[in-house]
Amino acid sequence: MCGIFAYLNYNVARERRYIMEVLFNGLRRLEYRGYDSSGIAIDGDRESNSAGDCAAPAPYDSAEPLVFRQAGKIESLVGSVYSEVDSMDLDLEKPFMVHAGVAHTRWATHGVPSPKNSHPQSSDLFNEFLVVHNGIITNYEVLKETLIRHGFTFESDTDTEVIPKLAKFVFDQAREGDQAVSFSQVVIEVIRQLEGAYALIFKSPHYPNELIACKRGSTLILGVKSLTDERNYSSAFGDVKSLTADGQPKELFFSSDLYAIVEHTKNYLAIEDNEVVHLKDGSVSVLKFDHNKEKPASVQRALSVLEMEVEQIKKGNYDHFMQKEIHEQPHSLTTTMRGRLRDGSVVLGGLKDNLKTIRHSRRIIFVGCGTSYNAALAARPFLEELSGIPVTMELASDLLDRQGPIYREDTAVFVSQSGETADTLLALEYALKSGALCVGITNTVGSTLARKTHCGVHINAGCEIGVASTKAYTSQIVVITMMALAIGADSLSTQSRRESIINTLPGLPEKVSEVLKLDGEMKDLAESLMEMQSLLVFGRGYNYATALEGALKVKEVALMHSEGMLAGEMKHGPLALVDETLPIIVIATRDACFSQQQSVIQQLYARNGRLIVMCSKGDAASVCPGGSCRTIEVPRVADCLQPVINIIPLQLLAYHLTVLRGFDVDQPRNLAKSVTTQ
Ligand code: F6R
Repeated sequence: MCGIFAYLNYNVARERRYIMEVLFNGLRRLEYRGYDSSGIAIDGDRESNSAGDCAAPAPYDSAEPLVFRQAGKIESLVGSVYSEVDSMDLDLEKPFMVHAGVAHTRWATHGVPSPKNSHPQSSDLFNEFLVVHNGIITNYEVLKETLIRHGFTFESDTDTEVIPKLAKFVFDQAREGDQAVSFSQVVIEVIRQLEGAYALIFKSPHYPNELIACKRGSTLILGVKSLTDERNYSSAFGDVKSLTADGQPKELFFSSDLYAIVEHTKNYLAIEDNEVVHLKDGSVSVLKFDHNKEKPASVQRALSVLEMEVEQIKKGNYDHFMQKEIHEQPHSLTTTMRGRLRDGSVVLGGLKDNLKTIRHSRRIIFVGCGTSYNAALAARPFLEELSGIPVTMELASDLLDRQGPIYREDTAVFVSQSGETADTLLALEYALKSGALCVGITNTVGSTLARKTHCGVHINAGCEIGVASTKAYTSQIVVITMMALAIGADSLSTQSRRESIINTLPGLPEKVSEVLKLDGEMKDLAESLMEMQSLLVFGRGYNYATALEGALKVKEVALMHSEGMLAGEMKHGPLALVDETLPIIVIATRDACFSQQQSVIQQLYARNGRLIVMCSKGDAASVCPGGSCRTIEVPRVADCLQPVINIIPLQLLAYHLTVLRGFDVDQPRNLAKSVTTQ
């Protein structure tokens, strides 16, 4: 988790205030990745070339970096930075023709949220090396012990602090040996020592106006904005080096994701593992680092063009991203299906060369976490029905904990909105070793999942910024449903079933628009439930996943205890919880499990359960014993698509409960959007 960001302006005058605002805005875009503390580093003024109360001069000639760190949300950092610069009498209007600033927003892994544990982490009092980091350094304890033996003292409880200190150690050693050492040589020596996952950006007054970024595991993007050349760069147009080595005015950005750079430029480079990207004198060099080789190799990389509009990362007329994303679903589902339903069949370009292998698999294994797991669970019955292949479900962390067997005859399907979830990626690495065909289903083009799987499908739901996943869930279900249709395309026995689903799919967005009209009703239901301690959701068959996902939404954003349960298990324990106070939502829309759900409702009614029944339109009177329960009537669609409809009232309920209970909708307590740590 955590978000890292950097901004370097070259040959163009930018005031200090402007530079700070670019850094703050970068952090605002990345805040969904972690929001318990944050920090920035910018340049101070050359005249004040000493560190705080320390009388000794700084061991460099350039301006000293100013580091600001604060616990809490980005806005508390912004407030504290402005009041601090005010008290320092720092000129905010001072222009810099070239300047390198770095920024970080944190989701704590090592050490509580506090200024000292926030990033940038520093090498020493003079901030000779500053580092912002996303990821976890697994061998930090060993490195720390070594550095302590060399006289370093540590201020923070973070794993990150070893990195700037190691950089200073490498730099000092070279200097003692009278060797000139470049910034990239220092960084490469540092990363030789690091184990774990990281995306890092280094800043140092020994190398003024330069920045270095590198990564292993975590995502890192370089954004390039030419201020003289308005051509829309394309990968065919040139490599990064030729585009940036011309000394022309430009702005360069590093970011943990594309969302933070889209408002500046569409030209980007997804940095690859073990690449070290050095910004110096307005040019960009990319070095490929290999543990087994002494010298890194220089590599040429082409820029890509981002297909994303700034509007996608704005809330528009909505109060929250989660609300916007729920209401966007008719559109996101349309884009998910666009170009994929042709002449009565499903065309998934990313899978077509592997369909034969999938059809011959001995097993299909879905792997994911949280909502992505639930989406696969929702689509599983249809895939089993159409493929005739056993489909098993794996939570990524559990698969890893058990080291569950995967065989080369299996197809393993990895589902992840971000494509960067650490557990899912580790499970992918594990499956790749078994020789199984690995398929990726993700929303994020260029993500690690997209790059490391053999083949796959993008869900094309558009940016999802609210931490609670909503539109990605419904798009994932539709993509897996389409995948089932493509896998089963050869079978005569399922032909009419396939045709009826293929004919139904284009009308799904309209049904979603219809169910979204329940917004007011769900707000009203939320008002009646807002004081509750607990909520149960019972589902089965296609809608077991709806129960799990609905409960997960309520739990994670409304911070209300909520459990999704398989209704078939009710008699085997959960029934003991039932009384007239505990609200229970029973999903009883029309499908093959309808009559079983009717009997569940009867049994709950007989025990005075506080029932809320989700049923198909027109069924309210018949599903409700004695007309006594509250109902949520939803439009009826084909059974395998009904989970797409049924989750929407529960997403709306979770949203309204959160607002009414006064909690943070888009940044729920303790969570972050991309869980890039194990
Ligand atoms: C819940 C939620 C999480 C994610 C999970 C996996 O609303 O968003 O449960 O679904 O962390 O994330 P991805 O899909 O990015 O792998």
